[in-house]
Amino acid sequence: MTREEVLARINYLSSELESHNYRYYVEAAPIISDFDFDQLLNELIQLEKQFPEFCFPHSPTQRVGGQITKEFTAVEHKYPMLSLGNTYSEEELLEFDNRIKKIITNEQVQYACELKFDGVAIGITYRDGKIFQAVTRGDGLKGDDITANIKTIKSLPFHLQNKSDVAYPAEFEVRGEVIMPRKVFNRINEERVDIGEAPFANPRNCAAGTVKMQDSSEVAKRSLDCFLYAYYGPNVFNTHESSLNAMSEWGFNVSNHRMVCNSISEVMEYIHHWDKARHDLPFDIDGIVIKVNNFSQQEELGFTAKSPRWAISYKFKAESVATQLLEVTYQVGRTGAITPVANLQPVFLAGTTVKRASLHNADQIAKLDLHLGDFVFVEKGGEIIPKITGVDISKRSETATPVRYITQCPECGSELVRKEGEAQHYCLNEEQCKPQIKGKIEHFTARKAMNIDGLGSETVDLLVEKNLIQSIADIYDLKKEQLMILDRFGEKSAQNIIDGIEKSKSIPFEKVLFAIGIRYVGDTVAKKIARHFKTIDAIINASEEELMNAPEVGEIIAKSVYQFFRKTSNIEIIEKLKAAQLQFELAHDALPVSLGNQLEGMTLVVTGTFERHSRDELKGLIEQYGGKNGSSVSKKTNYLLAGADSGPSKIEKAAAMGVKVISEADFEQMISK
Ligand code: IVH
Repeated sequence: MTREEVLARINYLSSELESHNYRYYVEAAPIISDFDFDQLLNELIQLEKQFPEFCFPHSPTQRVGGQITKEFTAVEHKYPMLSLGNTYSEEELLEFDNRIKKIITNEQVQYACELKFDGVAIGITYRDGKIFQAVTRGDGLKGDDITANIKTIKSLPFHLQNKSDVAYPAEFEVRGEVIMPRKVFNRINEERVDIGEAPFANPRNCAAGTVKMQDSSEVAKRSLDCFLYAYYGPNVFNTHESSLNAMSEWGFNVSNHRMVCNSISEVMEYIHHWDKARHDLPFDIDGIVIKVNNFSQQEELGFTAKSPRWAISYKFKAESVATQLLEVTYQVGRTGAITPVANLQPVFLAGTTVKRASLHNADQIAKLDLHLGDFVFVEKGGEIIPKITGVDISKRSETATPVRYITQCPECGSELVRKEGEAQHYCLNEEQCKPQIKGKIEHFTARKAMNIDGLGSETVDLLVEKNLIQSIADIYDLKKEQLMILDRFGEKSAQNIIDGIEKSKSIPFEKVLFAIGIRYVGDTVAKKIARHFKTIDAIINASEEELMNAPEVGEIIAKSVYQFFRKTSNIEIIEKLKAAQLQFELAHDALPVSLGNQLEGMTLVVTGTFERHSRDELKGLIEQYGGKNGSSVSKKTNYLLAGADSGPSKIEKAAAMGVKVISEADFEQMISK
């Protein structure tokens, strides 16, 4: 292909992929299979790799992220980002209606009603039909530029469509809410609990944490979504509803659950409908937003100091029921963390029967001053497991005894420990406590880890109960005959398990490192550590400081990894797994291909953001040219490779230590010599 042909193909693929994205994520009506979509995307990725000069900021490949932002740039809002007044009752809503009717006396007032999405507010500017900048609310006057992260949202158009009667203005802003669908939220929390991290309290917190992550490729994995609900730009619309219609035609994800009402009683009906129906939505809403539909009426009504007079929100009361606490039981997780669980008199709440509620930890029980037999209020947030929000003390019997937190593990009887700075109690008897043994083995065999077919949680439970396995290493001693003695397995299913175990011996090192279950080491971190150190022995022998030189590894993770390999029992397991011939070195094709030795013997520290490469790319290049990556400037550092927005502290430190600071261009020159 000539360069012109390549460019034409890239443009064609980009526009095809954009329109399929829109069909899939906004209209929920795809016309090609996921496989065919991936084929097109892969072709584009390959072409952009071969012709990096044709890799544009609005390419659909940019949705997978990759940009690292250490500090987000503050941006002033062109239109201040205000909040809304809240109402909680029909009376307050009538007062709102009355206030409006006192000002708008000679015309009918229509109300545009919308869901109040429970997420993070965002303002996104478009220039010449292309996404330009996405900014958080911040303090309402200034927010953070989180464009790289927002670009990972698949339903958000990079290019606008020209389908509407109204052409999109050369520059305008849309505002909306970034949300985390409940399903994704639950998946993320499961993963966090699995590696011993505290779960997010609700989808909103999770969305807020996600939009501020430094690595946009991590954001991409979290499948955020975004609904747009406001237009700010040249005056081309008469009503809010017509602006939303045009936005929808330009390609924005505008919720179809909106309704224009002709009276406040119609508004009330809409509210009542969604108060019930909200539980069937795949995301959380916390109320309804009511806006005067006509823009000239909005103008007439104006603003108070904090919020518009033409709009208000109606907040739903969290649905809550009272029921009796029957018993508190305690669960032991894979990491030994103890979770108290309230067992309740079954009660119907928000569409399901609730029998259990999480009590989180000992502090929570103390805070509620929980007594056995208490009548408790149960509420459901975004999470699957409901929570107890209070106790009806008036119904407490005089003889009720307070809930006493256990002091010994309910499974193995060993003394529980609460480490400094941790909310949870722990059972430290890792090697003998059954749920910990089972949990570790289940984590090891899971699809994301060693992917051993046939060793699901029930089978693992059975094998542990029958004393056939006690640790992840024992899996590799299992014999077909041993399995066949158990009722559950015939020859074929036993053979399947043995085959699955054999196959797992070729699972790459990165996954093995994740599978062995080091606290705080999820699959991404495991990959980064494996690539940095290349062999298990290098990891075992690394100091905490050296561990922190790996990308994504901070103090907490480094401590956890270091401690893990100081335990004799863990080292023994690794030795057994080595003897079983698992992969404990990075495969050759995962190793960086050497491109030269220009940086041999040098240590470079990369900081800030760059024009032509992401930080990860630069770190990769440093290794490919024989150099080493350092995480902080020290005496050992040869160069500080500093991009835009690199904090002053690193540069000052470099100056003080006599470390030379170089730019992206200097670096490119060094490696091209
Ligand atoms: S309109 C002048 N519409 O709720 C304010 N806001 O408490 C215009 N929100 O900051 C906001 N869904 O973050 C509007 N359909 C919706 C909304 C919505 C959620 C959030 C938004 C806003 C906050 C107001």
